[in-house]
Amino acid sequence: MTATYNQNVTIITGASSGIGEALAYELAEQGAYLTLAARRLDQLETVAAKCRDLGGKALAVICDVSQQADCENLIQQTVTTYGRVDTLVNNAGITMWARFANLNDPVLLEQIMKVNFLGAMYCTYYALPLLKQSRGRIANISSMADKIITPGSTGYIASKHAMEAFFESLRSEVVDDGISITMLYLGFVDTGFAGRMLNAEGKPSGGISQQLQATKQMSPVDSAKLIASATLLRKRTVYTSVSGVPGWLFPWIKLIAPTYLEQVGKRFMDVGGL
Ligand SMILES: NC(=O)c1ccc[n+]([C@@H]2O[C@H](COP(=O)([O-])OP(=O)(O)OC[C@H]3O[C@@H](n4cnc5c(N)ncnc54)[C@H](OP(=O)(O)O)[C@@H]3O)[C@@H](O)[C@H]2O)c1
Repeated sequence: MTATYNQNVTIITGASSGIGEALAYELAEQGAYLTLAARRLDQLETVAAKCRDLGGKALAVICDVSQQADCENLIQQTVTTYGRVDTLVNNAGITMWARFANLNDPVLLEQIMKVNFLGAMYCTYYALPLLKQSRGRIANISSMADKIITPGSTGYIASKHAMEAFFESLRSEVVDDGISITMLYLGFVDTGFAGRMLNAEGKPSGGISQQLQATKQMSPVDSAKLIASATLLRKRTVYTSVSGVPGWLFPWIKLIAPTYLEQVGKRFMDVGGL
């Protein structure tokens, strides 16, 4: 087992802000060789420069993960620069805050699926032969929204469900190659993600209500530490707590008392201004 990320060639999608950015700094401090991917190259270059200051190597690659060719290029650039891939973190993501019936165009759900699910699938497809060589690691950043009945997020939850189903199945195919797949179900992380939730018009909604945003959130730094250690330890599944309730409890609550969970979700929607 690798003790740290020292010289570990790690690709992080969605590294230009939020959790991906914080993870880049966490791994750079441990001496990782990073490839940072997102659409905003200027942001990525700033993050990469800070990673180098922290002691890591960092390559910034412009990549829209919804585009298959961009994902292929991301992996190729990594191999050209570092010669291998040890870890892939599928983190890039977008979300929504709108009732399905109110959507101007259901194409919004297609966009979310393309980024959150197909993006992770494309990157994994091109990285897999290299991860087999390195007996590497894949980490997927999912959400506790996938484990709770959460209204206003139909497309988001569908995309994270698809991600879970795909990677559970893939795990059974690659486990004998020594590749680990870690699913991380995070509660609210204080990245401003809620402000970028897409509304019924497909525009950033400015987020859910102040009241909801004021609920306890994990810091990006803490979430980065959690992702880093769980992936290094090749953990299978990680949940964080939501409003003080341990995350692993929610699948059980959903099984035993789905109507109760649905009512909690509906109250959440009211408080969240939907
Ligand atoms: N914050 C939370 O409360 C929370 C909770 C649970 C799970 N998560 C998950 O954590 C992940 C990161 O979220 P965050 O809170 O850090 O949000 P964020 O600050 O908005 O970061 C999202 C990242 O994804 C990138 N991205 C978006 N669309 C992309 C695309 N088409 N191609 C490539 N990169 C793209 C963005 O970069 P560009 O705009 O430069 O492309 C950005 O770097 C997401 O998968 C999210 O679902 C977040």
